[in-house]
Amino acid sequence: MENSRVKAYIKSIGAYVPSRKVSNDDLAKLVDTSDEWIYSHTGIHNRHIAADNEAASDLAYNASVSALDAAGMSPKELDLILVATMTPDYFGMPSTAALVQDRLGAINAAAMDILAACTGFIYCLETAKAFMESGSARNALVIGTEVLSRVIDWKDRNTCVLFGDGAGAAVLTDNADSPLSNIRHSILRCEGSGAGHLKLTGSGNRTPVDDAKVDHPYVYMDGQKVYKFAVKALCETVEKLLSDNKEHIDDIAYIVPHQANIRIIKAAAKRMKVPFEKFYTNMHEFANTSAASIPIALNEMNKKQLLKRGDMILTIGFGGGLTYGGNLIHW
Ligand code: ACO
Repeated sequence: MENSRVKAYIKSIGAYVPSRKVSNDDLAKLVDTSDEWIYSHTGIHNRHIAADNEAASDLAYNASVSALDAAGMSPKELDLILVATMTPDYFGMPSTAALVQDRLGAINAAAMDILAACTGFIYCLETAKAFMESGSARNALVIGTEVLSRVIDWKDRNTCVLFGDGAGAAVLTDNADSPLSNIRHSILRCEGSGAGHLKLTGSGNRTPVDDAKVDHPYVYMDGQKVYKFAVKALCETVEKLLSDNKEHIDDIAYIVPHQANIRIIKAAAKRMKVPFEKFYTNMHEFANTSAASIPIALNEMNKKQLLKRGDMILTIGFGGGLTYGGNLIHW
């Protein structure tokens, strides 16, 4: 049933990916691996790595400027800035959103970070929508930004080949001018019992530090457990978004999944009997950029004019927490 509340529309998308490109062959100089192994196990060829002086808020700022320019909107018109990140400039405070708010000069906006790892952008879209429907915000900036290269154990071939840096941003508005896309419905879930399978070891106040191997926070992952969770989460979220909204997969133009690993997406496509071509993937170029992966993909699709007015798309996230969820968006 169509609700009569204010809607949340995506007015524009922007992204920023650092220029420094690191190939699988480059990584083979650091650890015992090969382009053949990495590509066949993950679908990744390259990743982009932030410059030494770039932090999550810098990437976020650049993505935000491109989204605001595309929207033709001034930062002063924003009432809300939400940043999804697991690699903030500072752990705890200040939030990365506060740094972006200041740099943009978004003097009328509330600003906060939302921590839902690779599902962060999905969680932020729904949170911004809820602010709009309650009347607490009219224009919001939703950002996913990550500098994962700073929380990688570069000696661990199991994890260091998987991740990259980048940011994507969306401007949301409750003003139904064309061309705009409508966030129709979201599903947000968490399976906290699996929290230990994927974590940023050494980043908080848990002592003694579990699994401590290196002297800075780094990603610990049980790859097999995360793989099984991710395939299940992707399938369940697609199926629930469709059934809750009485839609059929044939009417969905694209599924835009978190770009963790092509094998997760192929396994989910096979399990659901959905053609793989319906899934948009770009991890070959950017690897896994956690909360940034979905807005970077949306930006690329928009630039390639793959998204037509009226298309229905599903954005699906899964990751640390273990969180998962998705949005049904009427483009
Ligand atoms: N290069 C060469 N060999 C490697 C590499 C590498 N980069 N990484 C692991 N190996 C080796 C292992 O050491 C192991 O060797 P051994 O048998 O001699 O011990 C062998 O490959 C097999 O290791 P597995 O971990 O069993 O490899 P698997 O086939 O499961 O693939 C992978 C690993 C790709 C991580 C897989 O588990 C996976 O897809 N997991 C999903 C998790 C994921 O993608 N996470 C991304 C981040 S989380 C997220 O965003 C939701």
